[in-house]
Amino acid sequence: MINLAGKVALVTGSSRGIGKACALRLAEAGADVIVNYVTSRAAAMEVADQITAMGRRAYVVKADVGEEEDVISLIDFIKEEIGQLEIIVSNAATGGFRPLLASNTKHFHATMNINVLSLVFLVREALPLLERSVGRAKVIAISSHGSHMALPMYGLIGGSKAALESIARHLTLEVGDKGINVNVVKAGLVDTDSTRRIPYSGVMFAERKNKTMVGERELMPDDVADVVLFLASRLSDLVQGETLTVDGGSAIHV
Ligand SMILES: NC(=O)c1ccc[n+]([C@@H]2O[C@H](COP(=O)([O-])OP(=O)(O)OC[C@H]3O[C@@H](n4cnc5c(N)ncnc54)[C@H](OP(=O)(O)O)[C@@H]3O)[C@@H](O)[C@H]2O)c1
Repeated sequence: MINLAGKVALVTGSSRGIGKACALRLAEAGADVIVNYVTSRAAAMEVADQITAMGRRAYVVKADVGEEEDVISLIDFIKEEIGQLEIIVSNAATGGFRPLLASNTKHFHATMNINVLSLVFLVREALPLLERSVGRAKVIAISSHGSHMALPMYGLIGGSKAALESIARHLTLEVGDKGINVNVVKAGLVDTDSTRRIPYSGVMFAERKNKTMVGERELMPDDVADVVLFLASRLSDLVQGETLTVDGGSAIHV
């Protein structure tokens, strides 16, 4: 059984969607959780209420993870108010769905800062806390099929996810011997606020049913959170620098 009692986990972008599911899953397993958001304060407070109802401590912190100063303040808060951090789930992402040819420098920088650089900022700032972890500290980033597949309107996000997976491997080189595991969860299509905004989402959800190989079951935020939970636990101590796919098998065949 996975027991995270005594651990503290930060989940970026945990007011909604997959991040919320991860925050709740880690809390169920015993961790205290920092719930991060950028606009949805009320939703973040509700997630925190659900966590405290489980008997865990929850902290709600607003921070734009694409802004270096915000990440520094977020981690400073954790250092000063909590004094420990063993698990980071770098989940928050953005990007807007548009053709690459309609993208400008601002779109590119915002996507890369929030989806990729945030992981580096988080690990760099939290390193002193992660190194003090009793047992290996766990850093988990969330990627998508766009890292290796071409999807309409998804060029910027897909490119950022490919960069994220590479950056995670390179981070492993730098912190693996400091007691820290860095891994990525590559999730298939999940019904969340962000995917509902994709212009062709109806077609994608219909195709997903035909492509997965798990019967009638559909990938849910909780399924992604289960893999994150595994990577956050000591069961994954020897899983290092990996990208683990959870998509019901949809991406392994034509
Ligand atoms: N949904 C899918 O099908 C799917 C598939 C593969 C991978 N993923 C990945 O899974 C992760 C979560 O996706 P989702 O679908 O659950 O998204 P979502 O429902 O749109 O939720 C996004 C979360 O990220 C937060 N956020 C956005 N920008 C932020 C920023 N700059 N700083 C801090 N927090 C920020 C949002 O906070 P506010 O509520 O405050 O705005 C919200 O909590 C992303 O990395 C995404 O690429 C999703």
